[in-house]
Amino acid sequence: MTTLLHSEKLRLLVVGSGGREHALVWKLAQSPRVGKIFCAPGNPGIAQLAASVDISSTNIAALRHFAEEARIDLTIVGPEPALVAGIVDEFEAHGLYIFGPSQQAAQLEGSKAFAKDFMRKYRIPTAAYQIFAQAEAARQYLLKCKIPVVIKADGLAAGKGAIVAHSRNEALNALAMIMEQKQFGEAGNRIVVEEFMEGEEVSVFCLTDGVNLCILPAAQDHKAVYNGDLGPNTGGMGAYSPAPTMSAELLQRVHRQILQPVIEGMALEHKPYRGVLYAGLMITAEGPKVVEFNCRFGDPETQVVLPLITSDLVEAMWLVAQGDLSDYRLTLASQWALAVVLASGGYPGEYETGKVISGLSRSEEKNVIVFHAGTAEGPRGKVVTNGGRVLAITGLGDTFQQARERAYQAVNRIRFEGEYHRTDIGAKALKHLKSNAN
Ligand code: AMP
Ligand code: GLY
Repeated sequence: MTTLLHSEKLRLLVVGSGGREHALVWKLAQSPRVGKIFCAPGNPGIAQLAASVDISSTNIAALRHFAEEARIDLTIVGPEPALVAGIVDEFEAHGLYIFGPSQQAAQLEGSKAFAKDFMRKYRIPTAAYQIFAQAEAARQYLLKCKIPVVIKADGLAAGKGAIVAHSRNEALNALAMIMEQKQFGEAGNRIVVEEFMEGEEVSVFCLTDGVNLCILPAAQDHKAVYNGDLGPNTGGMGAYSPAPTMSAELLQRVHRQILQPVIEGMALEHKPYRGVLYAGLMITAEGPKVVEFNCRFGDPETQVVLPLITSDLVEAMWLVAQGDLSDYRLTLASQWALAVVLASGGYPGEYETGKVISGLSRSEEKNVIVFHAGTAEGPRGKVVTNGGRVLAITGLGDTFQQARERAYQAVNRIRFEGEYHRTDIGAKALKHLKSNAN
């Protein structure tokens, strides 16, 4: 193991270009151990803190060449496609340090069928399920199963591969869309049909070296596009952390019944899991159950979790990449963080790009962080929209309400044509907190 000398300044490469990567770069840049940060491909917000590298996040060979030539000490990968395609194996085969799971370990996200069979084998609580490779067999099953039911493409589908069907017709349509029309391509060669779970959803991230684990504060995402959790699912329209529903006792249970068995099970399967493990959980009446695993940080959860960490994240990631996290001590601020996503009108469907964003500099103040996601540099140095989710504005506060007010005050200063955001991020949590206080 290469120990990190305090005098040594690290050169980091962050892969990705969204709000999550901006939050990662923002946090990593605060470490006294950092010399220089590069980000491939990055965005205009990230460019204020890191040198942009014009390589796409899936061009693994070009990223590896760059890391060698630029003498990068540690690479941190944001999005899942590169991880599932084996970027970690490629870097490590060339003697480069990288934070993330191997291709084999990333199957926990890359194949839902793998994840479900793994959970069954290691008795990790999750929804009952069936896997189908033939559309006709799946159809027969769907004609008789309990409704609502959840139908999921096995492979990666950019967060759109899970359909919660509230009627038999919807279930059959989902099956046709995934297995016959191949909306998600090869990812739909197999499907997982799952029992519907009722409860609140929580995202828990843990950093792990394959043996030791370090659990970060739980967060709650808002996946649906409209207020009141209505409308189609998106990548996430807002988040907050810590999650009031996740008591210390419940988090202990998640550690004992879910995270620890996953890490131990993956080691037993000869697929040691290193990096960050994202457990998407449903807090059901029977306790926490796994909805899905991701092999990366969540977006926009990262924009609320990382600002609460007061210890050095570079050190943690360095120790993970070296294979021994046991000496790391996580420390946290006793604060709340809440992020609101500003999206392009029409998202998650079709939307226009290239709209000039105003009010950005006025929003940069203490206890507010403006994270860029889908932005680009437009004419005359102006920042323009360049994606569905454009910005995530994080407010920090000593109370949940204060964090929320700060986030929304900043949101209201930012404008672009067609701008859309939910106005109820954190509303449910606030009710929960108020009823606990009474
Ligand atoms: P996934 O791609 O597996 O994360 O699923 C996307 C979303 O669908 C989740 O965030 C949940 O809101 C919902 N979902 C997935 N599986 C289930 C389930 N078994 N029961 C209820 N909701 C689910
Ligand atoms: N916010 C959900 C995800 O990152 O998958």
